[in-house]
Amino acid sequence: MCQRFVVVRIAHQLMNAPRASAQGALSPLDVEAVRRDFPALHQQVNDRPLVYLDSGASSQKPEQVIEALNNYERHDHSNVHRGVHTLSQRATEAYEASRTKVQQFINAGSVKEVVFTRGTTEAINLVAQSYGRANLRSDDEVLITEMEHHANIVPWQLLCEQTGAKLKVVPFDDTGVLEMSRLKDQLTEKTRIVAVTHVSNALGTVNPVGQIIQLAHDAGAVVLVDGAQAIPHGPVDVTALECDFYTFSGHKVYGPTGIGVLYGREFLLEAMPPWQGGGDMIKTVSFDETTYNDLPYKFEAGTPHIAGAIGLGAAVDYVAALGPDRIAVHEHQLINYATERANAEKDMQIFGQAPDKAGILSFVLDGIHPHDIGTILDHEGVAIRTGHHCAMPVMTHYGVSATARASFGPYNTIDEIDVLFRAMEKVREMFRQ
Ligand code: ALA
Repeated sequence: MCQRFVVVRIAHQLMNAPRASAQGALSPLDVEAVRRDFPALHQQVNDRPLVYLDSGASSQKPEQVIEALNNYERHDHSNVHRGVHTLSQRATEAYEASRTKVQQFINAGSVKEVVFTRGTTEAINLVAQSYGRANLRSDDEVLITEMEHHANIVPWQLLCEQTGAKLKVVPFDDTGVLEMSRLKDQLTEKTRIVAVTHVSNALGTVNPVGQIIQLAHDAGAVVLVDGAQAIPHGPVDVTALECDFYTFSGHKVYGPTGIGVLYGREFLLEAMPPWQGGGDMIKTVSFDETTYNDLPYKFEAGTPHIAGAIGLGAAVDYVAALGPDRIAVHEHQLINYATERANAEKDMQIFGQAPDKAGILSFVLDGIHPHDIGTILDHEGVAIRTGHHCAMPVMTHYGVSATARASFGPYNTIDEIDVLFRAMEKVREMFRQ
């Protein structure tokens, strides 16, 4: 069981975000203006104003994204890359414009390096099945960490079953910090792939992915970074990171569900075989020989989630306009405040006390099951996630089956955290009478 977190030392830095103090002119987010952009936030749930603290599971959408989806569905819907008619051309232009927006948002070198997928999970499976199956042999090793989401564990287990390669796991300590000395020990000349989360969804830990990438490259391995929980919370520059693959989902970055991104370095994607076969990923098909399309289409078989990609383009435009570095600073204020409040509660235990942490507060209340916490909070209008968070090995580490998790976005406020803590008083009243 984790020890109580006494000293709050949340670093004012997320990933490669500039420090707020060093920026001088960095103005704070206008949170009330941000909130006005999100219609779903302005509703009563169980006769209380909604307090949405579950952006880690799925974030809400601003009007700008809803409008982009609406506009596409009302006026431009048609298939992409296939038609000479006007609607197909409009749909294709909007779809490809979104790819360019994503490329610029993550600073990829080229649109060829941006593959649209169904989400992070599909992107990781694509790399495992395409790069992994083409490159791994029975003596090879894949290195992951103990704090991975199931989406960054199971695809590698499947790959290891298929190839005979071995899966190795870098542990984290009880504060939720990755044990870098163990990572260095476990990285060997046999390591072919290192797959690591940028930000842990269950702990909030921000991992030193830049350092991990350098170490892995020195050992001759390629690196996949699961950025699902990082991309909504601060700037990410895949070129500066020098990562080989970076994955994220639209619905955690204020965009639609069912759409995500695989970033891959061009020379790697070029050499990789296709994963799924079908329309749009081919150049020519005959019964004797099929030739494949250029990047990124080689990896986009079948009609894609066109609306999703367009919505994602609007979402990254929205986040870019708010300023990822300003979002990071705001969310650090929220997690610092929430952590201070949590530390003042004698019956509350926090999971994840890393010095560098994103806006995720994972906790339990002594003697009360997290599902009961979540249910009572919902009666008070407060939405949090409870359960194992698709990170069962993290639960196993602490000897619990579940935690309660509040996760923050740019639309959350200090007042909402106060509502969360007042609502937890209700939980205690109900369960400790
Ligand atoms: N992976 C999502 C979460 O952390 C669903 O809640």
